[in-house]
Amino acid sequence: MTKKIGIIVGSLRKKSYSKAIAKAMAKMFPEGYETTFIQIGDLPFFNQDFEDGELAEPQSYATFRNQVKDVDAILFVTPEYNRSVPAVLKNAIDVGSRPYGQSIWDGKPAAIISETPGSTGAFGANHHLRQSLVFLNMPTLQQPEAYLGGVSNYISETDGSITNKGTKKFLQSIVDAFVELIQRY
Ligand code: FNR
Repeated sequence: MTKKIGIIVGSLRKKSYSKAIAKAMAKMFPEGYETTFIQIGDLPFFNQDFEDGELAEPQSYATFRNQVKDVDAILFVTPEYNRSVPAVLKNAIDVGSRPYGQSIWDGKPAAIISETPGSTGAFGANHHLRQSLVFLNMPTLQQPEAYLGGVSNYISETDGSITNKGTKKFLQSIVDAFVELIQRY
């Protein structure tokens, strides 16, 4: 049976490097896997008043939760904002985790790619996200780790292509390890 991979990008920027990496990786999955991009930019900020009827829950929440429920695993590709994940990604994590006891993340294998034009590989974002995924019971790929630094040197802002052979090979190794992890679940 076909395995479905949901891809969530932590940047809304049109020429986002994260988006470029995610698009390249989407093509690296083997036969029997299909990828789908799950959008998070239209999710209003989570408010717990949605849960007790104080406020009507946004319709986009149900759409988002159903999209995540429908996939077998999640690939996160994210930049780092102030040594953490962008708020839009944290908000999506929070929306998917509620109502309490009905988290749509539970048990889904995940992989995290963090990227930055800087030199730290967005380690802070990667590990803050990892911390949430531990709590959400998502078995997350541990090795190889993917902290991509200096991305403006090898990703074209014009067409999003990856110009460095070594990076493409590295990303393929992440996909291969992720596929192995998914097969175990
Ligand atoms: C950044 N950037 C950044 N980079 C980094 O390595 N560590 C950081 O903590 C931050 N913090 C940060 C905060 C905010 C609010 C912005 C807008 C940017 C730079 C960031 O890595 C860069 O803009 C990336 O290109 C964003 O990723 P996308 O949009 O290209 O996917």
